[in-house]
Amino acid sequence: MEDLNRRRLLKAGGVVGAAGAVAAVAPATPWTWSPANSLPGRGAGADPRTLWDDEADPVIAKVIDSGQAPKVNKLLRTWHKNSQPLPAGLPPELRDFMEHARQLPSWTDQSKLADAVKFNQKRGTYLGIIYGFASGMMSTLIPKEARAVYYSKGGWDLKDRISKTAKLGYDIGSLNAYQPGGEMVVTCLKTRMAHAGVRHLLPQSPHWVHSASEDVPISQADIMVTWHSLPTTVMRNFRKWQVPIAADESAGFLHSWQITAHMLGVKGEYIPASWNAAESQAKQVLDPIQHPTPEGRKLADMLLDLGMNLDLTLLSRGVLGALTRFMLGDKAADGLNIPREPVWTPLLETAWTPYVLVREGLLNVGMPREAYWMIDEFLRQFVLFYMSELRMPINIEIPVFNNPK
Ligand code: HEM
Repeated sequence: MEDLNRRRLLKAGGVVGAAGAVAAVAPATPWTWSPANSLPGRGAGADPRTLWDDEADPVIAKVIDSGQAPKVNKLLRTWHKNSQPLPAGLPPELRDFMEHARQLPSWTDQSKLADAVKFNQKRGTYLGIIYGFASGMMSTLIPKEARAVYYSKGGWDLKDRISKTAKLGYDIGSLNAYQPGGEMVVTCLKTRMAHAGVRHLLPQSPHWVHSASEDVPISQADIMVTWHSLPTTVMRNFRKWQVPIAADESAGFLHSWQITAHMLGVKGEYIPASWNAAESQAKQVLDPIQHPTPEGRKLADMLLDLGMNLDLTLLSRGVLGALTRFMLGDKAADGLNIPREPVWTPLLETAWTPYVLVREGLLNVGMPREAYWMIDEFLRQFVLFYMSELRMPINIEIPVFNNPK
């Protein structure tokens, strides 16, 4: 009964009333990650599972409730570059928020961002695969994210969502990501606004109300969980595959993702200051919570059809399933009902690490030429797919409806 009332309250008040209401659903285990490990090295230590985005959420809730979201989305389709002025005609409160939120943090270090570019250029091919099939598939095993995506518009049109997420992966790796001619500030701010829209809309979905163990999705902690499924998972895989990464490039890559967390609205005290700090947070927030859910299984099933209707023979369900199993392990793949694939599962298990070492120039014997060619061709087709996803104009928008199904 108390639960029902809380939900009604949220529906009536939108997310603006969420902070007070959610105090009643304090998580069972305490939040113990210390702000001493964070970028500023200090903080109030509040539990980020009970914090959302108090700057964006009320502004976007108002845009949606006043029926202005379609007009705002249309205006913002012309806004692409970091240095571009905002289009005229936005509601004044939204414009004020966006002018403030588009500023890079004072701790932005352009030389570190230049090192990140070096990293992205050298490792771009692997990055696409990791973002897609380690991070992307992992998101289906993060129960709160899987539910949020499945019951929002993103679950209704997953293909569209994948291109939009691919855009973020592409923009962060591009040459001028956070420079005036780049697009990453815009991509992050539009994503921050999309998240605020989801926080407002999802609690109004009857499917969400019945399935979720939480009231308002995408807390500060949730964003950091997903963050670890991205850069922390990238670094874990590079370590596992023994890819040598120069110290400055590793620090630059971290910096580009720290800025991204900030631009998505995460408070400094939850953003790890170093890779060690990131590992300690990931062990606490990401590793223990991954498990399959009905929604996650459906999303994973849809993701495996990614290559359908494309003239790229190696992006079949079977091969992409084998890749998922290889990236996330047998337990995760079994949990997602992904079968072993007779050729590609053993191929990846035995030949992937030697392939990477040969490609890196660290090994020149012991790799059958046929196996090398198959993996190489698969990577080439994946890059083609990735680029085709980015060819159309991609506009990240404030959602105006939930998944109707
Ligand atoms: C939307 C990235 C965290 C759920 C988006 C979009 C991007 C993105 C690029 C725009 C794509 C679209 O509109 O479909 C990220 C990044 C995150 C993060 C980089 C963290 C570093 C999360 C978390 C959740 C979440 C933690 C849920 C718990 C959603 C949902 C949408 C969305 C439901 C909207 C989909 C739609 O209805 O269109 N996110 N996200 N995201 N994100 Fe996130």
